[in-house]
Amino acid sequence: MDAPIREAIGDASWFVDARFGLFIHWGLYAMPARHEWVKSRARITDADYQRYFDHFDPDLYDPAAWARVAKDAGMKYFVITTKHHDGFCLWDSEHTDYKVTNTPYGKDLIRPMVEAFRAEGLRVGFYHSLIDWHHPEYPVDRVHPMRDDTESRAQSKQRDVGRYAEYLHAQVRELMSDFGQIDYLFPDFSFPGEDGKGRDDWQSESLVKMVRELQPQILVNGRLDLLDTSWGWDFRTPEQFAVREWPQMNGRRVLWETCQTFSGSWGYHRDEATWKSVAQLVRVLVDTVSKGGNLLLNVGPTARGEFAERALNRLGAIGEWMRGHDRSVYGCTRAPAGFETPTDCRLTYNPTTKRLYVHVFAWPVGQLYLDGLAGKVRYAQLLNDGSEIPFVAPSSHQASLDRVAEGSLVLKLPVRRPDVPVPVIELFLE
Ligand code: GLC
Repeated sequence: MDAPIREAIGDASWFVDARFGLFIHWGLYAMPARHEWVKSRARITDADYQRYFDHFDPDLYDPAAWARVAKDAGMKYFVITTKHHDGFCLWDSEHTDYKVTNTPYGKDLIRPMVEAFRAEGLRVGFYHSLIDWHHPEYPVDRVHPMRDDTESRAQSKQRDVGRYAEYLHAQVRELMSDFGQIDYLFPDFSFPGEDGKGRDDWQSESLVKMVRELQPQILVNGRLDLLDTSWGWDFRTPEQFAVREWPQMNGRRVLWETCQTFSGSWGYHRDEATWKSVAQLVRVLVDTVSKGGNLLLNVGPTARGEFAERALNRLGAIGEWMRGHDRSVYGCTRAPAGFETPTDCRLTYNPTTKRLYVHVFAWPVGQLYLDGLAGKVRYAQLLNDGSEIPFVAPSSHQASLDRVAEGSLVLKLPVRRPDVPVPVIELFLE
């Protein structure tokens, strides 16, 4: 089968089978409600950002409800921001006071979340920010909220990034030790070079070694600035764009997962209007799987602790599609070489069941040509209702006017497109 050629260090089989996960960006930034980078973008001081800490009280938080929504959407794992760039911690860390248990809410958010998602059978992933705009030893750099403040810049020279790295390591140790098996870690992110930060600042090498010691099966993303090593990462994470083909490094296909938002923001953004449609989102999922990758789709819960209506609507509709079509996603990957992708379609393939799935993005008139598949298909059906899709031979009239490639299989489609976000034809291969 077309599998990643560079094997991951951790156990990737569950991840490849799963194909679809939920990203959750949650923290104090849900309150200003205009992007999780608001502290940096608006150059907000610690003193001014404190008002969110002082009023954080997600009283409607019900992790069991979140986990059910994710499961019903067809997601097999979830990834939660334990800390984002603003430095606010969602668990009861021993190493800081800047944590949820000191807000009016007063309780740990992570433990009940991990338990609830596990209870629904989902795997557990932690996002943890390498960047920290609150820690006193974290030097002011080119993306720091205080970057334009001369006094902070001057004072920053006394900051010791080594002390910050100790804090980072201690917290990651806590996260890797206190919550049972953690399947996945998303450290975020490195920006080496002039006025930036990278592997020497984070001490990435010893960090990843410690993580693998504590959680040997874990999968770690490629954002620790260790891409030139064979042991410092398991998967790549193209973010907010669709790759044109299976990502490679040094000519070898790699394990990968794309993360995408419903709109532009990861954190809850009240006034944003650029939300993707359900059909667009399903196409993103299918397109990703057709190139051998996973989709991590993000929700930014509100400051009251809920998934907003717009997110629930989309997740519900994706789940409805998944109910009928999930076997074209789970355990599937890129189609084997030699199977040409028809116009306006994507192919996914399950190497175990030997079924090929044609995802029809734009419904054609009457017929669908599958080049290279003549004689290779036993039976074809629509996945949404299990109705047969017959094979036809092109008429002599058609053959006199059009190229009818040898080796092509021609499917006879109903005129009306099935009323689902993406119709799928299931082909049972010989
Ligand atoms: C970027 C952003 C961040 C977001 C992340 C998700 O690195 O800094 O806000 O959490 O991507 O992949």
